[in-house]
Amino acid sequence: MATTVYVLNGPNLNLLGTREPEVYGRATLKDVEALCHEAGARHGLAIDFRQSNHEGVLVDWIQEARAKNMAGLVINPAAYTHTSVAILDAVLATGLPTVEVHISNVHAREPFRRHSYLSPAAKAVICGFGIDGYRLAIDGLAAMLTSSKD
Ligand code: DQA
Repeated sequence: MATTVYVLNGPNLNLLGTREPEVYGRATLKDVEALCHEAGARHGLAIDFRQSNHEGVLVDWIQEARAKNMAGLVINPAAYTHTSVAILDAVLATGLPTVEVHISNVHAREPFRRHSYLSPAAKAVICGFGIDGYRLAIDGLAAMLTSSKD
């Protein structure tokens, strides 16, 4: 059984910690990565953690997850959430269980953030828990993977 989960992060998330800290907090992307490895390890899952500011690179990585038959995907597409049919199509093509994560509560912000192209393809969506949403996503994905084995 596949035991690696890709955790993919979209544009500007490399700036976590300094970017609008009142919205996204003071933790850095390195902190998020460490939290994901800890959460994965508790479930016997390895984490491949990546960030890109480029839509096509994210699409390539999603396709790679499919080609390498990964266990699942956790993705925060950041601004591409609200614009990218390409990321939606890539996730649909993987057939992999996918959890969409947002650090902020996108529904409590500007109206344009309320629509996600990706959500219809996601098994679950988590938003508003800060960076802890990544841990919740990995815990939830692990539970899904366990129940799909039974
Ligand atoms: C975000 C929310 C998006 O609306 C925004 O464009 C981001 C980050 C979040 O994690 O809260 O860059 O995905």
